[in-house]
Amino acid sequence: MSDRAEPVKQGAADLRRAARLSVAPMMDWTDRHCRYLHRLISQRALLYTEMVTAPALVRGGALHLLDHNPEEHPVALQLGGSDPAELAMAARLGQQAGYDEINLNCGCPSDRVQSGTFGAVLMKHPGLVADCVAAMRAVVDVEVTVKCRIGVDDQDPEEVLPEFLARIVAAGCERVTIHARKAWLQGLSPKENRDIPPLDYYLVQRMKQLFPNLHISINGGVDSLDQALALLDSGLDGVMIGRAAYHQPWDILGAADHRVFGAAPVATTPQAVALQMLPYIERHLTSGGKLHQVTRHMLGLFAGRPGARNWRRVLSEGASRPGAGPELVHEALHQIEQGQTA
Ligand SMILES: Cc1cc2nc3c(=O)[nH]c(=O)nc-3n(C[C@H](O)[C@H](O)[C@H](O)COP(=O)(O)O)c2cc1C
Repeated sequence: MSDRAEPVKQGAADLRRAARLSVAPMMDWTDRHCRYLHRLISQRALLYTEMVTAPALVRGGALHLLDHNPEEHPVALQLGGSDPAELAMAARLGQQAGYDEINLNCGCPSDRVQSGTFGAVLMKHPGLVADCVAAMRAVVDVEVTVKCRIGVDDQDPEEVLPEFLARIVAAGCERVTIHARKAWLQGLSPKENRDIPPLDYYLVQRMKQLFPNLHISINGGVDSLDQALALLDSGLDGVMIGRAAYHQPWDILGAADHRVFGAAPVATTPQAVALQMLPYIERHLTSGGKLHQVTRHMLGLFAGRPGARNWRRVLSEGASRPGAGPELVHEALHQIEQGQTA
């Protein structure tokens, strides 16, 4: 990224602005390689890490989970946990590692996460969440935020969501992302929990009226930049996009700097982005990494464009082969042209 101004660590006002559009935390997807790619496409959007659990950091000493590239800013660390003291320690480690924001996961319904009493089950314990937020805020200067659902199981979102928000606001949380559907803690897989419970954007919009000073981002089912802009126009402060940003990064992030942030775009074409990844890939391979660890996040770069299938095929078939290197990316780009003329 040497031809661009080096992104720098951000203050709270910059973060609030960046949160107008964010890429969701996604386990196994939004790792550092994915975030590097996304940052090449949008210099302004806020990026989230995968969830890192506080016990892994504090009890397990797994500090490598905090590794990230300096180019990723503005970047938020998402933590999972429910012990205020442990989360405070983890938040401090996150701040020391350089993250711009610490986010608490109150939305993830997976079994593993439930057994540790964190994630979406915390929607049932707003007082504990408030204690966690307060404990983290007491030890870090960077903003502490929350990502939640509208409710879980048989909770009435109309009742529990305002109560939940009031508690975290009182504890000092000034920014929240609401995944606009319930989570069912029994009976649905994590994947089903991202699709089956119905979306209720209207409820989230009403929360903005109830909490005008709280920065509220909406999340869930947004699959185009036009849709994100319409939600921003409706009065919400931010839109967080997960799966669509991962599967069609160019469609979601390519025009974001211009259309969402009123800034000049950094990337001109998906081809240019692919070429800009090459020095990063070289460094990754030199330090002992494997090509597919980076290129698996690049498969959707040409989604919906002529030659996209050739691009995916060449990368997915070749990237795990022993000795695979940057020439495979050149070959995949070449095959796109073949696909265009076929
Ligand atoms: C593969 C995958 C992993 C996810 N991991 C997390 C996670 O670690 N933390 C979290 O808060 N949400 C996680 N989510 C949920 C997303 O952050 C987001 O809330 C959800 O996908 C809905 O947004 P979307 O419809 O824009 O994808 C994950 C989603 C996916 C698809």
